[in-house]
Amino acid sequence: MVIFDEVTKIYPGDVKAVDNLSLEINRGELVVLIGPSGCGKTTSLKMVNRLIQPSSGKIFLNGTDTDELDAVELRRQIGYVIQNIGLFPHKTVAGNIAVVPRLKKWPQEDVDKRVNELLNMVNMDPKLYRHRFPNELSGGQQQRIGVLRALAAEPEVMLMDEPFGALDPITRDQLQEELKRLQQKLHKTIIFVTHDMDEALKIADKVVIMKDGLVLQAASPEEILQQPANDFVRHFIGEDRLLRRPEQVLVSEVMLKQPVKIEYYKGLRQGLVRMREESVDSLLIVDNDDKFLGVVDVRDIQANLDNRKKRLRDIMHAMPTVDVNDNVKAVVKLMVGNGIRFVPAVDHKGHLKGIVTRSCVVNFILDYM
Ligand SMILES: Nc1ncnc2c1ncn2[C@@H]1O[C@H](COP(=O)(O)OP(=O)(O)OP(=O)(O)O)[C@@H](O)[C@H]1O
Ligand SMILES: [Mg+2]
Repeated sequence: MVIFDEVTKIYPGDVKAVDNLSLEINRGELVVLIGPSGCGKTTSLKMVNRLIQPSSGKIFLNGTDTDELDAVELRRQIGYVIQNIGLFPHKTVAGNIAVVPRLKKWPQEDVDKRVNELLNMVNMDPKLYRHRFPNELSGGQQQRIGVLRALAAEPEVMLMDEPFGALDPITRDQLQEELKRLQQKLHKTIIFVTHDMDEALKIADKVVIMKDGLVLQAASPEEILQQPANDFVRHFIGEDRLLRRPEQVLVSEVMLKQPVKIEYYKGLRQGLVRMREESVDSLLIVDNDDKFLGVVDVRDIQANLDNRKKRLRDIMHAMPTVDVNDNVKAVVKLMVGNGIRFVPAVDHKGHLKGIVTRSCVVNFILDYM
């Protein structure tokens, strides 16, 4: 529907506002451009309706090079919600909404009908609001009118530049919901600019993260959360929003780092004392070098307590281990597959580094829900 093909914009003074942008936006898709102030979001939008001319590269609308279209006609075809609302202060609500339909010379009757229809769509009673001026509306209502004005002439493509930027969080939330609802009904192709990551993740089909005129990552919200392309993206999203799949989480991140362990040559009573001290019913047995050898549980000790010659090494049994660099999924598989309650975690030389218990796994899952 909208294709940016290697588009660059250099402003006088050698400011590269947009750097070789290539991006495909499909029909009915809501794509969010996001990035720090000055990264080229508004410039990218304005090149679509030719309010700004690219220095190089092409933008296609429905397969047609926009350079070949009449700029004024092009702008009427595309809905545009500008940064900071930008309603005409001397026009009424109805007058603002009707700007493009009037330019397109719709019959007055159709214009009136359309204005009423749009106001009803956002639950603003036409009888109450048609004749008001922008300064007689709340910020949120002004924003709604800004959006309705862009929708008025039924454009297929909408450009929205931080349309909800100046609103309080509750009103913003409401308008985001409204936009999502409208989008489900109207299936417009929307390019939406914001620097609010929550907003982007909430409304976008595709998020395009920009910095210094460059696209760092363009992907679905889910993909971005799971696989941020680099540290900047990771930081920009915020660590606490990142979702990681069990495949991406290492054993070393979830394991308990102080497993209860004891040397293999110790006696059974020493083992029991250790268990009591630590309130555990199993001990991990290690050699002098801290290498994992096996496991002993309280029943093994009780069954052998009469035999004074036995050491822990004589009654311990083998147990599967995981590497600290394995992923959590491998551990869960091992635990479920073998019906075991815990798994010792070792390094590549077999040194005992930790233990993964069922509660480690549960805590990990809860953290990411
Ligand atoms: N007319 C202009 N002349 C020169 N430089 C400009 C012009 N318009 C924008 N710039 C510069 O181009 C860069 C990108 O600007 P743009 O308005 O696209 O950023 P933005 O991502 O929309 O930022 P914001 O989040 O603050 O709205 C900035 O460095 C800006 O200073
Ligand atoms: Mg901007």
